[in-house]
Amino acid sequence: MKVFVAGATGVIGRRAVRALVTAGHDVTGVARTPDKAALLFRLGGTPTQVDLFDRGEVLDAVAGHDAVVNLATHIPSTAKAALPRSWKENTRIREEASGVLADAAISAGARCHIQESIAFVYADGGDAWLDEDARRDVPPALASVDTAEAQVHRVTASGVSGILLRFGFHHAADSSLTVDTVRVARRGLLVAPGPAAAYLPSVQVDDAATAVVAALDAPSGVYNVVDDDPLQRWEYAEVLAAALGRASVRLPPAFLAKAGGRRAEPLTRSQRVSNRKLKDATGWTPTYPCMRQAWPAIIRELGAA
Ligand SMILES: NC(=O)c1ccc[n+]([C@@H]2O[C@H](COP(=O)([O-])OP(=O)(O)OC[C@H]3O[C@@H](n4cnc5c(N)ncnc54)[C@H](OP(=O)(O)O)[C@@H]3O)[C@@H](O)[C@H]2O)c1
Repeated sequence: MKVFVAGATGVIGRRAVRALVTAGHDVTGVARTPDKAALLFRLGGTPTQVDLFDRGEVLDAVAGHDAVVNLATHIPSTAKAALPRSWKENTRIREEASGVLADAAISAGARCHIQESIAFVYADGGDAWLDEDARRDVPPALASVDTAEAQVHRVTASGVSGILLRFGFHHAADSSLTVDTVRVARRGLLVAPGPAAAYLPSVQVDDAATAVVAALDAPSGVYNVVDDDPLQRWEYAEVLAAALGRASVRLPPAFLAKAGGRRAEPLTRSQRVSNRKLKDATGWTPTYPCMRQAWPAIIRELGAA
């Protein structure tokens, strides 16, 4: 397929471009600078410079493609995440650019349109497994996630196969969120707030990228992209501590869970999210079935770096 990727230069995007090229697809990726364009060339893609908020530019750039994949976001660093203004660009991407890309997929007569989302949309499920039909509970501060998700239903209604991927918490040695998590854990504290028994939906980003490739052939619908075996916070902290060679990593105090406000509250819930639907539909399977395997590999890679 000819695949157009927005967010192609990000942590997941770079891997998705490489995985798509390896699978035999012809990939066009959005690059915002000459350096990023060179990166996409090295990955085997064709860079294009296009403003995702300019409808005309995007419709022209997407014409002739069989699939559109939107992985663009602007998630602020851990240090800035509590400041509402640092989310402005991310909100604009989910509210405006997701609609522009959906229009472009429809206008191009694409076979398939893939939109990123987050596994944190689900209400607290305690110990229960959560599939794609589990109750959602999106706070008003994250309404842009609803807007982006709605685009997928709109493209599906128009006849394009719409795929919504709800990713778990990303883990990769080149992700700033992972690097921040490791830096704080080396001082003995877990960044992820929430009760000790709360499950954390996670995915290693190479696996998230292969899920994007697999999703091109999935029936339209919503799919969770998470590992096989989500851990409770206490166990996640133990696994991370062991990978770092520490005796322990402490869970954050309860007041920190409240400090992030309503935007961060979904990150504190227990979400034992299931990947069964994507596996059954596509045969995709994660190389890292659990953070028990992913954390040691990431720490080794960071050590080598
Ligand atoms: N991190 C997580 O734990 C997590 C969890 C669930 C879902 N996700 C989702 O997974 C996706 C990818 O995350 P990631 O870690 O790959 O993010 P990332 O590394 O920050 O990459 C973001 C991508 O979006 C592009 N972008 C940012 N602002 C843009 C703008 N104004 N116009 C055009 N492109 C813009 C970036 O381009 P530049 O390279 O030019 O900056 C980059 O290609 C995101 O959609 C995210 O919401 C992440």
